[in-house]
Amino acid sequence: MKKNIVVIEGDGIGPEVTRQSVKVLTTIAERFHHTFSFSYFLMGAIAIDRTGVPLPNETIEACLNCDAILFGAIGHPKYDNDPSAKIRPKQGLLKLRKSLQLFANIRPVTTYPSLHHLSPLKTKNIEEVDFVIFRELTGGIYFGKKEVNEANTEASDLCVYTREEIERISHLAFRRAQQRRKKLTLVDKANVLETSRLWRKVVQEIARQYTDVAVDFLYVDNAAMQIILNPKQFDVILTENMFGDIISDEASVISGSLGLLPSASVGKGAALFEPIHGSYPQATGKDIANPLGSILSAALLLDHFGLYEEAGLLREAVDWTLQNGFVTKDIDPVNFYFTSTIGELICDYVGNRIPGDIINKANIELRKSTII
Ligand code: IPM
Ligand code: MN
Repeated sequence: MKKNIVVIEGDGIGPEVTRQSVKVLTTIAERFHHTFSFSYFLMGAIAIDRTGVPLPNETIEACLNCDAILFGAIGHPKYDNDPSAKIRPKQGLLKLRKSLQLFANIRPVTTYPSLHHLSPLKTKNIEEVDFVIFRELTGGIYFGKKEVNEANTEASDLCVYTREEIERISHLAFRRAQQRRKKLTLVDKANVLETSRLWRKVVQEIARQYTDVAVDFLYVDNAAMQIILNPKQFDVILTENMFGDIISDEASVISGSLGLLPSASVGKGAALFEPIHGSYPQATGKDIANPLGSILSAALLLDHFGLYEEAGLLREAVDWTLQNGFVTKDIDPVNFYFTSTIGELICDYVGNRIPGDIINKANIELRKSTII
């Protein structure tokens, strides 16, 4: 299989984690005889620094003409901490989502037994948690009309949804539910918001086409509570843009590390894959960030290409590192391995360079961090 992948490393730890994914994808391509070609483009603070805008046109062009996009992270304090700044890195990401019509952001939430102790929740509540959030990504309050009066004493953000916007993501979510445990929960605020009432109406109508899927409805405030109290109850969660933004960050901590969660944004053209963590400026360049969020996003990219065996092997490699204690500093602040070492270990695993169960820990120890 031949695929052209656009890589947008972005800001902060974006470049160092994305490089691990490129290494891993390259190793997978070699082993399975695929040709993945990578081309690099700018977005975010780095793009502002180099070109004056957060999303140069050539980046949009490249994304419109590729098979998939691998993205790192966006944001830098020098722009983000200034509320009066006219140009901000994150505008780049929002514009890219809109330009590519990436209308569904898909965030799987799973837990790993070896990390249960890191979760803020009790182990008995998080065992076997496995759900996926479908967040609408190109509508709602994020993209409605924004106004502020001249005196700067009044501001407004309009929340707008059309039936078509709700329908297209709902079909994706229902189809996913059919392949899973056949349960879909719509999260909204239908007791207050007109847009939420439209979501309910449209989802109820669509549900008639998916009679094998059980549908329920939760107000977002209750959903926020249920995700903490009893996350096992969820299978597919469907929600609008801002509610999805908030509950997916909330859900991300269940696993024990924000650094582990991947996401896929899909739409009309090429899909985009990115870890859900941010640019983590304090860790930039230190080789300590967790690359697994990005590497698991690369696994979603392989799924998207229909390369399920390759994606499965990659997930197996990730499990193998976690089970053997090859983890970054966010997971074990004392005995930790560098970002690049984890990337190499995963390459060794997917490249079949680790003989069965016999791991030469002594050699790997040499690549371990000595900084405590
Ligand atoms: C996310 C981020 C973005 C969002 C920011 C960076 C604009 O928080 O991808 O969840 O709010 O959508
Ligand atoms: Mn967010």
